[in-house]
Amino acid sequence: MGPVERVCCIGAGYVGGPTCSVIAQMCPEITVTVVDVNEERIQAWNSEQLPIFEPGLQEVVEAQRGVNLFFSTDIDKAVREADIIFISVNTPTKTFGLGKGRAADLKHIEACARRIARVATGYKIVVEKSTVPVRAAESIQRIFSANTKSDLSFQVLSNPEFLAEGTAISDLKNPDRILIGGDETPEGQRAIETLSSIYMRWVPKTRIITTNTWSSELSKLAANAFLAQRISSINSISALCEVTGADVEEVAHAIGTDQRIGSRFLKASVAGFGGSCFQKDVLNLVYLCEALNLPEVAQYWQQVIEINEYQRRRFAARIVSCLFNTVTDKKIALLGFAFKKDTGDTRESSSIYISKYLMDEGARLHIYDPKVKQEQIMRDLSPSTASAEEPEQGLSLVSIASNPYEACDNAHAIVICTEWDIFKELDYERIYQAMLKPAFIFDGRRILDGLHGRLQQLGFWVETIGKRISQRLPFTGSAIAQLDLQAPPLKKMKS
Ligand code: UDX
Ligand code: UDX
Repeated sequence: MGPVERVCCIGAGYVGGPTCSVIAQMCPEITVTVVDVNEERIQAWNSEQLPIFEPGLQEVVEAQRGVNLFFSTDIDKAVREADIIFISVNTPTKTFGLGKGRAADLKHIEACARRIARVATGYKIVVEKSTVPVRAAESIQRIFSANTKSDLSFQVLSNPEFLAEGTAISDLKNPDRILIGGDETPEGQRAIETLSSIYMRWVPKTRIITTNTWSSELSKLAANAFLAQRISSINSISALCEVTGADVEEVAHAIGTDQRIGSRFLKASVAGFGGSCFQKDVLNLVYLCEALNLPEVAQYWQQVIEINEYQRRRFAARIVSCLFNTVTDKKIALLGFAFKKDTGDTRESSSIYISKYLMDEGARLHIYDPKVKQEQIMRDLSPSTASAEEPEQGLSLVSIASNPYEACDNAHAIVICTEWDIFKELDYERIYQAMLKPAFIFDGRRILDGLHGRLQQLGFWVETIGKRISQRLPFTGSAIAQLDLQAPPLKKMKS
């Protein structure tokens, strides 16, 4: 194969769109076409209003679109013309049948493989970008082999993407590593070299790791599982902090300075881990271990998921218990709906879970997020089992506010679910004045740490993750017993 001239990517989502935009910017002589079955999505990529919000993305797309970056629904044409085909379609957790709730559904990947086998001719390098169960490349390869044509030859590579939403463009431009897995045959190695040659335009060679296909596939699942596990570890410690008087931020800092542990990904929050990847990939790993008869390993990783669910549940329970054990008909302002800041993505967002817990208790939610659209919030909160008579029953409890002040007006409590920077700069005095008293703030993300003292001075009752702040516990027998248990040792109290 000569130098790569044309690249195509099937799947114009959070992974395919930004990845290809950066490839186009870094490789001006390569034509990059991103295709998708979803016409509306492609139209949006071709408009001023991109379908996803990602800092820096708009600028890259505007610079390259129509030059060497194209968005299209003509999948067959793009596949036929490309030297390299990335597959970036979604691999959701199965909701039915074998492996329901855990296994990844590979139907979209399979559909892509069959389509490529049908329409392509010549030599193609097919690159698995989607996170897939280990040995998915083998399935793609078998589909190709079973549909072989004399005029088609191909190599299948695994090249998982490690970008995080909210920082996708900088992650893509300056990745920790590029991982490429392929066959250990000479043809496989040549395909790896061809794909590496694209990344080498902007990534130092030392950061390009090549492995066999299965190592590459498993490394992606393992990387996400390790990151998720760190979050569950610190969240489990946050629960302990709340009952011992320790502060999880101080503990995270103290342990994170040990270079063997490292300081990143130790942020406890109400969120646990949200987003489209962590839960799906850990579940996928659990399923893989079960299928391969490794039940102890499966149970180990399952626990990472359970702590995540526990974190959300216990935060919602704390809101209810602080609000005098009932939130029925109380107005609660929920600030932030995206699964993290700087994205409009709500997939697996903790806000959905917290909202649903509170809605089950009859709370009236007023939700504000700077980037998530009203329709998306309503879709996420729609009861999946709405009865025919009362399809919108749950949603009557939800209002979308156009700004944070409107959300907080006359509210009993504010619940911060996403760490958007703007929430640090709100006029909390104005908000306090407009709220019902006592006014509660549940800082689910520890973004107001520096302000907790001032908020208390204003009159707020402040609750947060991994630290006890407001000491004005209700005067009941059990509260006194609890305080006794947590009082510092006598010696310290005297000094
Ligand atoms: C998804 C997965 O979540 C992730 O695990 C994987 O690594 C890459 O794919 P993301 O880009 O966030 O990541 O998914 P999504 O935004 O849903 O985009 C997938 C796109 O593929 C959608 O636009 C969908 O319309 C498109 N698609 C799906 C096709 O074009 N063809 C199909 O057959 C199926
Ligand atoms: C993740 C991986 O980081 C990325 O490498 C992979 O390609 C896709 O999955 P993403 O889900 O986009 O990326 O975001 P990430 O920054 O990892 O955050 C995931 C969730 O964990 C968010 O809800 C975030 O709020 C939460 N988180 C993250 C914490 O609760 N604490 C932390 O310290 C870090």
